[in-house]
Amino acid sequence: MDKFEIAVIPGDGIGMEVVPAAMRVLDAAADIHGGLSFEWTTFPWNCEYYLKHGTMMPDDGIATLRGFHQIFLGAVGMPNLVPDHVSLWGLLIKIRREMQQSVNVRPAKLLNGLTSPLRNPSAFDLVVVRENSEGEYSDIGGRIHQGSDEMAIQSAVFTRKGTERVMRYAFQLAEKRRKHVTSATKSNGISHSMPFWDEVFRDVLKDYPECATISHHIDALAAFLVMKPHAFDVIVASNLFGDILTDLGGAIMGSIGVAPAANLNVERTYPSMFEPVHGSAPDIAGKGLANPLGQIWTGKMMLDFMGYEELGNLVLDAMEATLAAGVKTGDIGGVSSTSEVTNTIIDYLRRRT
Ligand SMILES: NC(=O)c1ccc[n+]([C@@H]2O[C@H](COP(=O)([O-])OP(=O)(O)OC[C@H]3O[C@@H](n4cnc5c(N)ncnc54)[C@H](O)[C@@H]3O)[C@@H](O)[C@H]2O)c1
Repeated sequence: MDKFEIAVIPGDGIGMEVVPAAMRVLDAAADIHGGLSFEWTTFPWNCEYYLKHGTMMPDDGIATLRGFHQIFLGAVGMPNLVPDHVSLWGLLIKIRREMQQSVNVRPAKLLNGLTSPLRNPSAFDLVVVRENSEGEYSDIGGRIHQGSDEMAIQSAVFTRKGTERVMRYAFQLAEKRRKHVTSATKSNGISHSMPFWDEVFRDVLKDYPECATISHHIDALAAFLVMKPHAFDVIVASNLFGDILTDLGGAIMGSIGVAPAANLNVERTYPSMFEPVHGSAPDIAGKGLANPLGQIWTGKMMLDFMGYEELGNLVLDAMEATLAAGVKTGDIGGVSSTSEVTNTIIDYLRRRT
């Protein structure tokens, strides 16, 4: 029996509803498998915690998390209590950076039973692999002078190590999928970092001869993701380009409430962190209206990362069967509650055994 110790941070708002829902689904999946189990340890680190303790997590929070196999996170942020830059940088971004979660993975797939805002889309199933630790989101730069002389400089940082790492992850993922990697570039406009990005891409692709490749400028690629998302398999992108593309990926699926994400420490020296794309949705929190599918799909990604891909695929099948049966929350046109959707998914899983 493989036993996985998982640190759980439900966070704020609907995180406290969708995280327990997804834990129930993962426990049901583990029961069905019979060879794995989860030991969940929940940490109350959120904006309420900040109001009591003046910090989003204790000083030894990172050291504590290090002892777990993975981290399962809901959403962080309650802007009426704590400013977003304090809550996000004090917990989410701190964990991503200090645990070297340098690759961010976000799939976008046309799910059975879910209506995309695109008109008559062909079935698409793509994954954006985004560099998560450097690039345009480096903290290098500054501001000087006042008034009309005021200026700001922000430097982007692209290391060969970080660029190669994210590209190798993208190729290895593509080898297990449809063997096609698209590189998001902008070497026609950004004259140092993007030609470097292209050069590293050309070097790395030589090690993956089974994969076909193409490079697109990010502006054209954004348009293609709307016009022909079915043409893509794995897309590898820098931090900023990947950030923008993944929101677009979530949007063409039909709701931010279904979009999952993983922050991976690919070297596996630290735990990775699995969290949905959506935030804490204060407008619907506490009402049982939250769509749990993003969090559950995030759980499927955690199963995949731990080597249980078949079980992960079963969870995705159960989600699609639930959607196809019309059991949906309000954000995607249904009338079902968080727990009705969760129970239907679990029933489906149990029926499959
Ligand atoms: N990764 C994170 O922890 C994360 C990500 C994004 C935003 N946030 C934080 O969350 C807070 C709220 O941010 P926001 O309102 O901009 O974004 P949000 O994603 O929380 O909500 C945007 C809209 O989508 C809806 N929505 C989101 N998830 C849903 C779900 N699962 N089911 C049904 N509807 C859903 C909400 O009701 C809202 O109308 C802020 O504090 C923000 O900083 C955190």
